[in-house]
Amino acid sequence: MAKGKYIFGAAGGGCGCHTEPGKSATGLNAGGRRFDAPFGTVYSTNITPDRQTGIGAWTDEQIIAAIRLGRRPNGERIIPVHPYMAFNGMAEEDLRALVAYLRTVPPITRPNQPKKISVPLFESVFLPAWLAAFAVKEIPPPTAPTSGVARGEYLVRAVGHCGECHTPRGVTQATDNSRFMAGNPKGPENSVVPNITPDKDTGLTWTEEEIADYLATGNTPDGDVAGALMGEVIQGTSVGYKDLTKADRLAIARYLKTIPPIKNKIGK
Ligand code: HEC
Repeated sequence: MAKGKYIFGAAGGGCGCHTEPGKSATGLNAGGRRFDAPFGTVYSTNITPDRQTGIGAWTDEQIIAAIRLGRRPNGERIIPVHPYMAFNGMAEEDLRALVAYLRTVPPITRPNQPKKISVPLFESVFLPAWLAAFAVKEIPPPTAPTSGVARGEYLVRAVGHCGECHTPRGVTQATDNSRFMAGNPKGPENSVVPNITPDKDTGLTWTEEEIADYLATGNTPDGDVAGALMGEVIQGTSVGYKDLTKADRLAIARYLKTIPPIKNKIGK
């Protein structure tokens, strides 16, 4: 369970999309957070162990399939606002620990709100095109890398899903992985998401120590503080990026230094 809680924190600040801002104490994992996407409006779902409105009646296998394959027990596809493309790379041991932790948070009765899709054909045409571009691994790797750049890559790509915000998106709204981590001037909730490739003019030029400190404290080397969604994922809900070990934060920093630099000026 301790391991599951750690993974929960690493996964976008306590699977933060599933908790309404400011409701970590009373509404942890109860969903209902609104996301406006170009194709419509969706609300995050209740992932507390409530048996009627949450995921309490699902088996471990069903929860894992939803997390990493985007499939609900009834066979329905989950809209990829839930980042299963990233979570598809999570290791079986981490998924099982995460599910064990999810079962321990207080159950909350809160029915899911239906999504409102405004783009005609979104679900019949766009979504299948999106999914076709996604090379799904049906079977997860059994274990996660434990150290070095491989550990950093795993935390960034699979668990932390940093690219969901930091990678720009193409016309289908899928992430444009040819510009991995090159920033997004119009990210989720209209946030301005910086380029964190190691490009020396437009990217992230901080030292590994500085990146690792930022992930723990939100403090930037030039005396600023992480704002918007980054502040949120660092702080987390019951746990966040700030609770990652120093070794893991340094592994993330080392990995970021190895990704191809891409020139892409974001913001001023
Ligand atoms: C939910 C969206 C989201 C996720 C997930 C996310 N970030 Fe960010 N990140 C942002 C935003 C927005 C900012 C800009 C914050 C600001 O303006 O203060 C940012 C800023 C940063 C910065 C500061 C860059 C600079 O030049 O100021 C770094 C470094 C960073 N993120 C690394 C990461 C890493 C590593 C991960 C994954 C472990 C990650 N981010 C996941 C949204 C996100």
